[in-house]
Order: sequence, then C-alpha cells, then structure tokens
Amino acid sequence: MNKVYFVGAGPGDPQMLTLQGAAALEKATIVYLPLPYDETFAELLQGKQILIPFDYDFAELLSLLEMQLESSAVAFLIPGDLTFYSPFQGLINHFAERAEVIAGVGIANAASAKLKRTLDLPSVCDRALILSPKTLGNKEDAPKLEDFAAPGASLLIYMNNLPLEELVTKLRNGYGKDVPIALLHKLGLPGEKIIEATLDSIVAACDGFDYFYLDDPSKKPALTFLIVGETLQAEVDGGWWDYRRETMWKQRKVAEGR
Ligand SMILES: C[S@@+](CC[C@H](N)C(=O)[O-])C[C@H]1O[C@@H](n2cnc3c(N)ncnc32)[C@H](O)[C@@H]1O
Repeated sequence: MNKVYFVGAGPGDPQMLTLQGAAALEKATIVYLPLPYDETFAELLQGKQILIPFDYDFAELLSLLEMQLESSAVAFLIPGDLTFYSPFQGLINHFAERAEVIAGVGIANAASAKLKRTLDLPSVCDRALILSPKTLGNKEDAPKLEDFAAPGASLLIYMNNLPLEELVTKLRNGYGKDVPIALLHKLGLPGEKIIEATLDSIVAACDGFDYFYLDDPSKKPALTFLIVGETLQAEVDGGWWDYRRETMWKQRKVAEGR
C-alpha cells in the first residue's frame, strides 16, 4: 500500500530534516511543498514531480492524491511540522492508515536554537504560550493579545497580521513594561534576518521594513516568527543547577546505583 507522508520539513533548511523525514522523501516520487522549499530542498527532490498543494481545492486534491497513490508514494513537506498551525489535518484524516506523519523541527525549536535561548526559565519565565493574533481573531468576545502578555510569560507569535506598532502597543500594555523581543524572518532560508531588540526599540530596529508583508497584495506568507519575554535576555547563574542537583539529581544517582 502506497502511503502519503506528511513530513515535518523544519523551517525550510534541509539540514533540519530528520532522518525519518529524509527516508520518507526518498520513497516518494511526487512531492507537494510550499515555495521556496522547491529551491532549498532541490538536491533531495531531483527527479521527483513537484506540486503546490494550495493550487487545488480540497476535493480536487483528494482525487488527485487517490490517483497518484495507485502508482507511487507521495510526500508533503510541511513547514515546521504538524504540531501547530498546520492546514493538513483534513487530508490526514481522509487517508487514515495510508497517512504517515513524521515529526520535524518546529519553527519554535529552530528559533530557540538560533537565539541560543530556552523559552522558559526558572524564576524568570514560568510559561511559554503559542499564539497568533490572526487565529485569535477580532470578535468582541475573542481573547485579546494583551491578556496573554504578562510578566513571566514567553509569547511565541506565529502569523502576525497586525502592523508592528499596533502589535507592540498591545504587548506593552499586557507586560506593563519594556521586555525583550526577537523577530526571526526567513529562519533557515535564503534572506534570513534576525532582529533582537525590546518592545520599545523593535520598531526602530526594523527600519520601516514590513517583515509581515501586510501591504503585499500577493498574500505570500511572511515567514516571520516572533518571541517575546524576559527569558530572551535573562542572566543565568549556577544557583538553579545546584538546587536541582541537591534536591533531585543526587538522589537519582543513588537510585541508579552509580
Ligand atoms: C502555518 S504556520 C506553520 C507553523 C509550523 N507548522 C510549526 O509547527 O512550526 C506559519 C508560520 O510559521 C512561521 N514560520 C514558518 N516558517 C518560518 C521560517 N522559515 N522563518 C520564520 N518563521 C516561519 C511564521 O510565523 C509563519 O507565519
């Protein structure tokens, strides 16, 4: 039985494809992907038929895939992976046991590594929240961005659809103070740009460039990810390490008989 593989492609850099993902990609002769993965994954795609899933409506895509599966395995390269904000659930449900999902490096993971920052930190940040102003929506009873922005919270913001000034004002209101923010544009892709600033300085640091393509009529995805929170610039000493060692790790060592 040929399968449809939903391969977590990470941010788009083939170096971040997992070994499982690479093996699935190798099996498929037809690959659906978003641009610019056709370029960044070019070496792994040689000889394969490339299609863009968003060129088809859902029913069309299902019948095309049914036909393709009669003769070949098919792969979808999915940004990050399925975990958050992925539009492929309907296809996965339809193909059921013929669908296989392969974990990938989520954008948040790749961003954390790029910034060399863990996104929660004892006594600095006790929660990390994944959200998007776009999916929160703007209905009257919708939760507000300000409700999530609070001291001690790291915010991982996908698919921003607000002008940067407006976004920053909302975040500033929520946090009630200036906190660090990092903007990661085209992470792992050609044209990558990383800006590390604070809420009070990020607008100037962007120098008028619209990293969210808000005014672009083509509706092309902006591929810009934001992280906000104190953990981005916190100093860390060895106190927490020693506390954990004293209260947990030493006992573990005894229990393991080492
Ligand atoms: C539909 S979501 C995909 C999230 C993905 N499924 C994950 O789990 O990481 C698309 C959003 O992810 C972020 N994103 C995807 N690729 C990116 C990249 N290469 N660089 C920066 N942000 C990226 C952007 O915020 C973009 O609007």
